[in-house]
Amino acid sequence: MRAIATGPGATGTADPRPTLITGGAGFVGANLAHRLLSQQRPVLILDNLSRPGVERNLAWLREQHVTGLDVTIADVRDRNAVARAVERVRQVFHFAAQVAVTTSLVDPREDFEINALGTLNVLEAISAQPEPPPIVITSTNKVYGGLEDVGLRLQGQHYAPESAATFAHGISETRPLDFHSPYGCSKGTADQYVHDYARSYGLKSIVFRMSCIYGQRQFGTEDQGWVAHFLLRAIDKKPITLFGDGKQVRDILYVDDLVDAFLLAERHMDRLSGQAFNIGGGPGNVISLLDLLERIERLDGKRPAVSFEGWRTGDQRWYVSDPRRFQQATGWSPRVTAEQGIERLYNWLRELRAGEQPLSNASQEQHACAPA
Ligand SMILES: NC(=O)c1ccc[n+]([C@@H]2O[C@H](COP(=O)([O-])OP(=O)(O)OC[C@H]3O[C@@H](n4cnc5c(N)ncnc54)[C@H](O)[C@@H]3O)[C@@H](O)[C@H]2O)c1
Repeated sequence: MRAIATGPGATGTADPRPTLITGGAGFVGANLAHRLLSQQRPVLILDNLSRPGVERNLAWLREQHVTGLDVTIADVRDRNAVARAVERVRQVFHFAAQVAVTTSLVDPREDFEINALGTLNVLEAISAQPEPPPIVITSTNKVYGGLEDVGLRLQGQHYAPESAATFAHGISETRPLDFHSPYGCSKGTADQYVHDYARSYGLKSIVFRMSCIYGQRQFGTEDQGWVAHFLLRAIDKKPITLFGDGKQVRDILYVDDLVDAFLLAERHMDRLSGQAFNIGGGPGNVISLLDLLERIERLDGKRPAVSFEGWRTGDQRWYVSDPRRFQQATGWSPRVTAEQGIERLYNWLRELRAGEQPLSNASQEQHACAPA
């Protein structure tokens, strides 16, 4: 029988049960796992290792943490595997996903099955528990669609909204949902299911609608993670393909700040459950693709060669999060500026490259530029 959550979630640090991170071998997941393990909190990762390169994150986590890490290699589409993992844990961070708009256009069914059905599997497993663990999931700015009604002007080499208020604050959670692209639809479906399981079944849940996250352990081997991708191409002295005019803008958030936000969401779950929050670097950390090329030139001494191709489906010309709702609720704010974060990631990737063989051309070409 389905349990309805009534009491507070088991979030005290004395709870010996692990925290489940689906997709925990990935970029965001590995960073959260590292933080939790560093705080002596046991972690269970469920990941099918479908993203090329993420096994390196697992190897790194195992090197860093001799105890506390448990790994299940499984697919979120496997409801039995998901149920077995969920029954052991105190808290769930659900990150496993098909993460690329481009891939979702090629195979929308697989995208749906991983992102929508995979999330339903997690929710069903949680709600079947006598004491359902709280869940935080990572949704996307793509749930707000193309923002075609937001009037834009060109300001130098980036788009900016005509409205002074939108320019100053970004896009808030009051923005109507408008799922765009199969990826936007599958992530949006997951976002709304999680929201509704809080409403219908009393699950404790928080949804993060994230803009562009970047940082260490982001390898850039899929159509997502353009900041890391540009830096890698520059380090490898290879040209970059820009889709569109390169003036599209995102607010970027360094992954350490995102991990802080996850921990605050977990801590304030009882008060914030049932809500969605726009999480990103906000108006203070805004950058266009062309701006990033300039910063790379300053860091690397040379501007990477670029070529241009047409706009890609679902690529917003401007998206900047308004993170004030989460800030006001928890006191969180990003601490790493775009400038600091880009330099940190550049240095980390340079060290990584110094100790490895370059990634294959094929995997890097695919990655091109996809602001998430
Ligand atoms: N990085 C960003 O800028 C960004 C922005 C918005 C939303 N998100 C969301 O944040 C989450 C984490 O993103 P990320 O950047 O760490 O991506 P990532 O690709 O590095 O991590 C995703 C992980 O999920 C795993 N995975 C994929 N399909 C799976 C499946 N069927 N079963 C089990 N595991 C599976 C992959 O192997 C990978 O380790 C995703 O849900 C993504 O949609 C990320």
